[in-house]
Amino acid sequence: MRMYDIIERKRDGFALSDEEIDFFVTGYVAGDIPDYQASALFMAIFFQGMDARETAHLTMAMARSGDMLDLSSIPGIKVDKHSTGGVGDKTTLVAVPLAISLGVPVAKISGRGLGHTGGTIDKMEAIPGLAVAPSRERFLEIARTVGGVVVGQSGNLDPADKKFYALRDVTATVDSMPLIASSVMSKKIAAGADRILLEVTCGNGAFMKSVDDAIELSRQMVEIGENVGRTTVALITDMGVPLGACIGNALEIREVCDVLQGRGPADVTEVCLELAANMAELGGKGTLDACRTAVREQIGTGAAYAKFCEMVGALGGDAAALADPTLLPQPACSRAVHAPRGGFIYAMDTERVGTSSVVLGAGRAKKEDGIDYAAGIVLAKKTGDAVGEGDTLATLYAASEALLDDGARMLLSAYDIRDERPEPRCHFYARVSRDGVEYL
Ligand code: URA
Repeated sequence: MRMYDIIERKRDGFALSDEEIDFFVTGYVAGDIPDYQASALFMAIFFQGMDARETAHLTMAMARSGDMLDLSSIPGIKVDKHSTGGVGDKTTLVAVPLAISLGVPVAKISGRGLGHTGGTIDKMEAIPGLAVAPSRERFLEIARTVGGVVVGQSGNLDPADKKFYALRDVTATVDSMPLIASSVMSKKIAAGADRILLEVTCGNGAFMKSVDDAIELSRQMVEIGENVGRTTVALITDMGVPLGACIGNALEIREVCDVLQGRGPADVTEVCLELAANMAELGGKGTLDACRTAVREQIGTGAAYAKFCEMVGALGGDAAALADPTLLPQPACSRAVHAPRGGFIYAMDTERVGTSSVVLGAGRAKKEDGIDYAAGIVLAKKTGDAVGEGDTLATLYAASEALLDDGARMLLSAYDIRDERPEPRCHFYARVSRDGVEYL
């Protein structure tokens, strides 16, 4: 078999055979197929797509490219969660402690930020002392004793996705439906949970820009999960506006603590509660309505916040920094950005907001770049809000005035201020399961 022929067949619109997909995945992971041929194939897939059989086979070949985690030593129905990425999306760090506090075991592997989107593991590393890569034994032990845990990808879990994603990120082939579906589901399948909740973000800050595309991606991922015996549900959430007020790692940890203590912004609170309720329902904790009531109670009693502190402590993190944000990384400089005119925030270019936070130092421009955990943005005004000329739109945090100059310029250009008020936005568009699509 020759890689040249595989690229040519996909370029010309043919479906690849199972053997051709296996040849590519094993060859690329082993280093026998060069990046330029893999890039050419990804671009061909980007334009020609893949059918359901090809996508499912690619997913399983990726999942089997490394270790498959065995979570059987953790009692109960293990539930995993994954977001396809967004700006200010800190939902994992709220929904997981909530689910754990209800007795749903979660042993979750999370990722780092990519492009304009943030990553759970980068946010966790903003907590002093926290180590995101415990040994496999310690990971399982924390999951058993605390009830659940979130850690970074380590060892040899889905090496195909690691290599594919790094290459897709720099070859403009991230936003391809079969490549996203196989990337997400291969990681989830390798990570060993029994049931999977997917948060499929949709809008100008997400990889899926339209609800129809988000539904199609969800359908494909649900089908892949169900075909390998993992009950899978996808919630399609709005990413046409940043989620919550805080964007940036330490800032988002503060917001996570606020939401878990019942004083977070309404949008991110609503999204996190619904995700947690769906995790609890998948975990067999009752009907969705009963789980909705239960998660609210876990916020009110402080049980979910206590679980978050326990998880942070088990990973070596300084839980005192959760109660006292002055112990989190502090920025050297800050600056308010003001509205150039009065009116309503009609729309926000959410991807541009995310890129502004990257420019400030909260994300990486290149894979090997470091992160300034204190950098980021606190939004004072978002889509739908009324503003007067000169009102503060946001406060920016960075290590230097020069970074603030660049970030402020970019953030300001993300705001569309008009005289008319926009239509109100919803937080959820649809729920996709093996029973079909339920519009919300
Ligand atoms: N999230 C993933 O894990 N993979 C993708 O390809 C896109 C978003």
